[in-house]
Amino acid sequence: MTALSESPVETAVDGLVLTVDSVHIRHQVDGREVVKGVGFELAPGRVVGIVGESGSGKTLTCRAVLGILPPLFEVAAGAIHVAGKDVAALSRAELTELRGSTISAVFQDPASYLNPSIPVGPQVAEVIRVKKGAKRREARRRATELLAAVHLRDPELVYTQYPHELSGGMLQRVLIAAAIAAEPRVLIADEATTALDVTVQAEILDLLADLRDSTGLAIVLVSHDLAVVAQLCDEVLVMREGEVVEQGPTEQVLHNPRHDYTRLLVAEHEQYGLDRFLEES
Ligand SMILES: Nc1ncnc2c1ncn2[C@@H]1O[C@H](COP(=O)(O)OP(=O)(O)OP(=O)(O)O)[C@@H](O)[C@H]1O
Ligand SMILES: [Mg+2]
Repeated sequence: MTALSESPVETAVDGLVLTVDSVHIRHQVDGREVVKGVGFELAPGRVVGIVGESGSGKTLTCRAVLGILPPLFEVAAGAIHVAGKDVAALSRAELTELRGSTISAVFQDPASYLNPSIPVGPQVAEVIRVKKGAKRREARRRATELLAAVHLRDPELVYTQYPHELSGGMLQRVLIAAAIAAEPRVLIADEATTALDVTVQAEILDLLADLRDSTGLAIVLVSHDLAVVAQLCDEVLVMREGEVVEQGPTEQVLHNPRHDYTRLLVAEHEQYGLDRFLEES
């Protein structure tokens, strides 16, 4: 893997790169609380997983962390610190600066985040120019390095290709390259592998594990798939209807679930071979 962390490691005094402290998210008009007290913390090189049914508040939690809640949603209580900075206290410009450079994200459906009429390489290079202030030629060199770092074969060719020329798995790698281009400390992956077939999904998870190991990247991994979480996460949060119903070390939560809802999730996943995976790991 090429060197991805040339900048000094930004961390809070406690060494944590992300703290989410009893966060509540509310709809400002109807007053509905869609997230009711989510909390976790992340040290460099650690991975936390968020699982739970559709609409349970996983994505809104991520968006609150990124400072990009949809209109009319607000963090009504609690606090979020990214590399020691209180997200609520940052100006819009400071938040924009934080995103990409300190915290970054990949979502499902990578194609929708890329401009279809520009080759993918220059789109990654643009991130490096904007976020790192690199000159054009340097940005191109670095972007090509990143395409190699996310295990795209023939990165020079891929650099020149348009989104429609690449498979879903390749596009997700390009998005990950763009997301890590400015060497963030935290990566949020929200259903980032959901649309991919199982083999490609496993490769992308390996890639995230590589990045964690080689750069100390901390990861928030959102998935409805417990097997994905089992593979990568140190800790897991199980959400249901905006509440965290169970939280703890991954082994404990998946092997020895205490909450009925977690038991149900684990049982549902048994048909996909979660049991076998847990035994191997
Ligand atoms: N942009 C939005 N406008 C209005 N309501 C929203 C918006 N985004 C989310 N919600 C609502 O907030 C709640 C939590 O949604 P969220 O997207 O966080 O769920 P999720 O756990 O990510 O679900 P999924 O697994 O389907 O992605 C849901 O009730 C959802 O309908
Ligand atoms: Mg979601």
